[in-house]
Amino acid sequence: MTAALDVPTRIETERLVMRPYVAADAEQLVEVVTRNLAHLRPYMEWIQFEPQSVADRREWIAGEAEKFAAGTGFTMGMFDKAGELVGGSGFHVRTDPDGLEIGYWIDAAHEGKGLVTEAAAALTFVALDIAGAAVVTIGHAPTNSRSGAVPRRLGYRQRDLGGKQCFDAGEMAPAVEWVADAATLTTEPLASWPRPALTESPRPTSR
Ligand SMILES: CC(C)(COP(=O)(O)OP(=O)(O)OC[C@H]1O[C@@H](n2cnc3c(N)ncnc32)[C@H](O)[C@@H]1OP(=O)(O)O)[C@@H](O)C(=O)NCCC(=O)NCCS
Repeated sequence: MTAALDVPTRIETERLVMRPYVAADAEQLVEVVTRNLAHLRPYMEWIQFEPQSVADRREWIAGEAEKFAAGTGFTMGMFDKAGELVGGSGFHVRTDPDGLEIGYWIDAAHEGKGLVTEAAAALTFVALDIAGAAVVTIGHAPTNSRSGAVPRRLGYRQRDLGGKQCFDAGEMAPAVEWVADAATLTTEPLASWPRPALTESPRPTSR
């Protein structure tokens, strides 16, 4: 069952560290999201609740920590090696019963560097090889070709779920969905993609 899926609290790739947000990230998160409102508005449903205050963000981080601890959602910040927040990623627990769904966004200033593909490759490995998911999925709006290029680049295959909806420029549209499983992980390009370093830091707590 999905509740048993267990995700490490620190995932390190060549250029990135992914980890759950902590209260001290609130200022940085507000700053990055607020300066990316136009960039994120077309495809991130939560942008309708922005901009948020630092206090709102702390509250949100506490809620995400509760979900992480309960195994009902695994939101992570994407930081560079200097600790600068460059985007957000992690897993939603909402598609297949034994699956995880990768979500992502990146600061417009860091688009086009392959950082999201690097993050998604690491998360694919974590989902399938560490967390025990049977499948990992990535879904996006039909017009979001930049998003679709990420799973395509990693060798995911497209699947038709029929009827699954996602946020597309203020409306809901049929999602394009991609899936990876154990076989994807042992097929190029993921087979020879560098594996992330995983370290267990203290589990997030809500307060
Ligand atoms: C969707 C989104 C996350 C994709 O980000 P991205 O920067 O295009 O993705 P990557 O970081 O993997 O970068 C890929 C690009 O970097 C290039 N690149 C440079 N160095 C690279 C490397 N080492 N490895 C892979 N690609 C590299 C690729 O060629 C590609 O360029 P191209 O788009 O010109 O073909 C980003 O556009 C975004 O945040 N959009 C708004 C929010 C959103 O839509 N989120 C997804 C909702 S489903």
